[in-house]
Amino acid sequence: MPEAIKVLKAAGADLEFQEYDVNADQYIRTREPIPAQTWSELVKADSILFGAVGDPRVDDAAYLAGVLLRLRFELDLYVNLRPAKLYDDRLSPLRREDRRGIDLLIVRENTEGLYVGMGGRFKKGTQEEVAIQEDLNTHLGVTRIIEYAFGVAEREVVMVDKANAMTYAGALWQERWKAVAKQHPQVKTRHLYVDAAAMQLVRDPTQFDVIVTGNLFGDILSDLTAELIGGMGIAPSGNINPATKRGLFEPVHGTAPDIAGKGIVNPVGAILSASMMVRHLGHKEMADAIEGAVESALRAGECTRDLGGSLSTSEVGDAVAKRLHD
Ligand code: IPM
Ligand code: MG
Repeated sequence: MPEAIKVLKAAGADLEFQEYDVNADQYIRTREPIPAQTWSELVKADSILFGAVGDPRVDDAAYLAGVLLRLRFELDLYVNLRPAKLYDDRLSPLRREDRRGIDLLIVRENTEGLYVGMGGRFKKGTQEEVAIQEDLNTHLGVTRIIEYAFGVAEREVVMVDKANAMTYAGALWQERWKAVAKQHPQVKTRHLYVDAAAMQLVRDPTQFDVIVTGNLFGDILSDLTAELIGGMGIAPSGNINPATKRGLFEPVHGTAPDIAGKGIVNPVGAILSASMMVRHLGHKEMADAIEGAVESALRAGECTRDLGGSLSTSEVGDAVAKRLHD
């Protein structure tokens, strides 16, 4: 987070920053995932830049749900944008050179699906236990995410579901998909089941432009696409509501407790999330400048060791900041 803010300031962002501590220390002390006072400030912000959530000391799902999922749901940030762009060939795990022109976007539904926390456990802890997790899909929710995907696609929208096995939810997605597609005859369309989509993403990720999918499949496929461009340290995301303009921007990665605090974590995912944030706020040139600076730093090998470099976290922030005005 400090590196993302460093780069934003170096880029001349005319933004007022307010910092809030939301973390496991505080949760363990108070059992409040986000303190009420902080929440009331967060909902007023134009945009939220978010570090990461997760702590080995806190294994109850209420923490995650009370921090990240609460923000996504209560601010109705229904679009989760997860771009995957390969900035330097050497970061690709794929052997074939013609499979490296990766520049795709996953448009993940972010407020419904299996994430809503509906369901329960019956006869908990016994051998007769029944656990039910509901997959919630609404006409409005499915329609608006598919519409968003068409709005941003340049070439093609691929809709990913599992309608062959999950027939009720799948049928709704299929119907809304066909209806929305009809209104955008100029955009090519394709449908893939999620298992086939995973296979195609590894076989040839260059075939994809925009992928639209539900909450869980988007979560899973975006870890896969992160790996295709250099790993979890690099992948950014934006959780947005295009109508209210609210947004929360965060790297796709978690808190990496095994390496946190050692000065070696990769700040690029956070820096690129900051770039997505200023793009969303309307500062296209600044967003391009930050992305360009990241790209040239990566190409020059100015990166942390997970990407084959030798710089520390803050040295990468410095390197990107320095390249901003090149
Ligand atoms: C992500 C994360 C979250 C998710 C977790 C932390 C709840 O994996 O943003 O991809 O599943 O959405
Ligand atoms: Mg995830």
